[in-house]
Amino acid sequence: MDQRPEFGEKFLVGVDQIDREHRRLFDIAARTYDILGASDAVGRAMLQDAVAELIDYTATHFANEEELMAAAEYPGLAIHREQHQHLLARVRDMEMRVEIEDATVAVDLTHFLYRWLVDHIESSDRRFGDYVRSRRPS
Ligand SMILES: [Fe+2]
Repeated sequence: MDQRPEFGEKFLVGVDQIDREHRRLFDIAARTYDILGASDAVGRAMLQDAVAELIDYTATHFANEEELMAAAEYPGLAIHREQHQHLLARVRDMEMRVEIEDATVAVDLTHFLYRWLVDHIESSDRRFGDYVRSRRPS
């Protein structure tokens, strides 16, 4: 991955709270990207921090997003929740690999997180944004 993950306008889904929280997830992805250049000992401590924050913040963000979906009676909620659960399971895997000092976990986590964010936001979260907009009285 050559480019530092960065949130941009193209990722906006049109729901302010969700967009704000996505920006923060990109910040975490940028942190794991920066860790790739750090030495092993320093990198491992930084990576532990970043993964802990990632687990904590994704749990908060997913709960908020699912709450907004439930309030809007969004029909895609169940499938969407499954996608969130899947991401959390993958991140917990990565956390375990950090614990056992797996040498390639930083690269894997950075790639995986960035890809997941882009794909998930551009398809699933955007679909919810479109749904919210379609129900707004014009
Ligand atoms: Fe989502």
